[in-house]
Amino acid sequence: MVFITGASSGIGEACARAFAARNRPLWLAARRIERLQELAQELKTRFAIEVKTSCLDVIDRKTVEKFFQDNQSDITRVTILVNNAGLTQGLDPIQSGSLDDWDLTVDTNLKGLLYVTHGFLPHFARRGEGHVINIGSVASRWVYPKGNVYCATKRAVSALTEGMRLDLHGTGVRVSEISPGMVETEFSLVRFKGDQERAASVYKNFRVLTTNDIAETVVWTAERPAHVNIQEIVIYPTDQASTTLFHRKEKT
Ligand SMILES: NC(=O)c1ccc[n+]([C@@H]2O[C@H](COP(=O)([O-])OP(=O)(O)OC[C@H]3O[C@@H](n4cnc5c(N)ncnc54)[C@H](OP(=O)(O)O)[C@@H]3O)[C@@H](O)[C@H]2O)c1
Repeated sequence: MVFITGASSGIGEACARAFAARNRPLWLAARRIERLQELAQELKTRFAIEVKTSCLDVIDRKTVEKFFQDNQSDITRVTILVNNAGLTQGLDPIQSGSLDDWDLTVDTNLKGLLYVTHGFLPHFARRGEGHVINIGSVASRWVYPKGNVYCATKRAVSALTEGMRLDLHGTGVRVSEISPGMVETEFSLVRFKGDQERAASVYKNFRVLTTNDIAETVVWTAERPAHVNIQEIVIYPTDQASTTLFHRKEKT
C-alpha cells in the first residue's frame, strides 16, 4: 500500500493517479477530506483498487500520534511513504518576513514530515522493507531571493533524507528524494494567500513541469528493483535553468 501525504491537490494527487494506474492500493491523507474522498471514489471506480482516505493535519503532533495509534494494523500494510505535503506562505526579504508564515512553513515541511515518517519507519525497519520518497525541491540546493525560510526547510528535507538513509543502512529500507523545479499546482496560490492573479503570474509565458511529470518520476523511483535505491532526482523544466533563470516567451 502506498501512503501519500498532501494527496488532495498538485503533485500528491498526481502521484495517487499514477500509482492507481499501476493498480497499487492507496492511502491518501490531507486536510481537505472531501477532495480526497472524491478522488478516491474516482480511482476506485476506474481501477478497481483499494483507496483509503484520512483527514490528517501533519503539523498537529497529537493528531498524528493518535492517527498512528488508531491505525496500527493498516500502517503495517504500507510499503511506500510519499512525504509530499508541503507549502510556504509569503515571498518576502528575510528582514521583513512574518513569524506566522515561517512557523507554518517550518511546521509543515519539516516537523510534519518528521511526525509522519516517525510513524512508519519502525515498521519499515522491522520488516526489512519499505521506501520513503521525500518530495524536496530545487530550492533546497539553490536558494533564491526571498525564498529564505522555504529554501531552508527544503534543505533540511535533503539533510533528513540523507540522515534517514544513513541510519536505515543495512535494514533494506530505501530512501529517495525527488527535487522538482517549477510545477504548476496550487503552491503559488497558497504562497500568495489566495491572490489568483499573482499566483498565475508565476507560471505566465513559461512551460512549467506538469504534476504528472513528477508523479511518473516518483512511480519510476518506487518501481526499481529492491536492490536499487535512487538517492535523488533533480528535475527542471527545459525553460528553467536555475531557481532564478526562466525563459519566458511572450505570447503572440
Ligand atoms: N509546485 C512546485 O513548483 C514545487 C516545486 C518543488 C517542490 N514542490 C513541493 O511539492 C510538494 C507538493 O506541493 P504542490 O506543488 O503539489 O502544492 P499544492 O497543490 O498546494 O499541494 C500541497 C499539498 O499539501 C497538503 N498540505 C499542506 N499542508 C498540510 C498539512 N498541514 N497537513 C496535511 N497536508 C497538508 C495540501 O493538502 P490540504 O490543503 O488538503 O491539507 C495539498 O494536498 C510540496 O512539498 C512542495 O514544497 C513543489
